[in-house]
Amino acid sequence: MAGKFITFEGPEGSGKSTQILLLAEKLEAAGLNVRCTREPGGTATGEAIRNILQHDAANEPLCDRAELLLFTASRAQLMNRIILPAVEQGGWVLCDRFIDSTLAYQGFARGMDIATLDNINAFAIADRKPDLTILLNLNIEQGFRRLEKRYENGSGTLDRFEREARDFHIRVYDGYQNLAAREPERFCVIDADQPIEAVAEQVWNAVKNRFGI
Ligand code: TMP
Repeated sequence: MAGKFITFEGPEGSGKSTQILLLAEKLEAAGLNVRCTREPGGTATGEAIRNILQHDAANEPLCDRAELLLFTASRAQLMNRIILPAVEQGGWVLCDRFIDSTLAYQGFARGMDIATLDNINAFAIADRKPDLTILLNLNIEQGFRRLEKRYENGSGTLDRFEREARDFHIRVYDGYQNLAAREPERFCVIDADQPIEAVAEQVWNAVKNRFGI
């Protein structure tokens, strides 16, 4: 049996990586073969690209088109090297961000044309969309509060996107609502402003309902 491909989307601080780990545990306990990955990154090439995108590793300002193509180059490599082979072998792939991040951030927030981005995304992923996309919805006040806590604990500094102005993050949030409304059969929207276990329970129910585990 072919596996499944599930992506997690949402604004900064919405708890995607925590929820991916919790879902992976449950799927593994159900006897499924699970592979967790992330974007940008997930391959050696992708992680090198991530360093340029998030931490200005090349030490020069990135123009919007170069930024877009770096994200999608990382995506093409991840799709080809990791996601497609794993799913073809019956694996369940859980990916932290995917095509919808490009649409929300480069499209709705930076203002690039959505139809153009749809085409570039389709090319990068050879038209294989996720079977399910979980949108962890968190309004920007809550998101920023969670991020501040993370950095108060001394576990990092804000990256290039986290430093963007408040308006940018409002456009990301609105963009995600728009994307979920555009493809309601692919998206499942979950309120992330709840205790971790409550969110995890809803994620698990969504996956069970969708795939009949
Ligand atoms: P994160 O995975 O740690 O949340 O960081 C990734 C950052 O990159 C996040 O701010 C969203 C942004 N991003 C884009 O702007 N476009 C994309 O296509 C992807 C995958 C991420």
